Amino acid sequence: MKKLIIINGPNLNLLGKREPEIYGNLSFTEFLNQLKEKHAEVYIDYFQSNIEGELIGKLQEVGFDYDGIILNAAAYTHTSVGIGDAVKAIKTPVVEVHISNTFSREDFRHQSFISPNAKGVVLGFGLQSYELAIQSFL
Ligand code: DQA
Repeated sequence: MKKLIIINGPNLNLLGKREPEIYGNLSFTEFLNQLKEKHAEVYIDYFQSNIEGELIGKLQEVGFDYDGIILNAAAYTHTSVGIGDAVKAIKTPVVEVHISNTFSREDFRHQSFISPNAKGVVLGFGLQSYELAIQSFL
């Protein structure tokens, strides 16, 4: 069985409550349950943190063992050299995901420290961005 993990960064624990016009009404827990039901053939692990170092720690922990990482580093995407370096340092391929189309938003969201070392990037499809990233590993 393939082992994948979704890693979500800051404020994504508020999905469903946070700016629903951008991020939708569904909580991530509800969405994750649907995703797991749909893809019973893969093991889908999940980690969320609002803390940069914890995200780096998790990338290091799973990054030599899992088959794929689906990473939405949220705001840290645009600021974190440390998370970018961690993505570069590990063996497991990382697909960068964003719910919104970051390129249609403020200029500071156009920069990503993850993209240069990601296997691919999926953005702008709402929560379906995660689903498309999962499919890329199957
Ligand atoms: C986000 C986009 C980021 O710019 C933002 O800081 C987020 C969420 C997205 O999924 O659309 O928190 O990563």
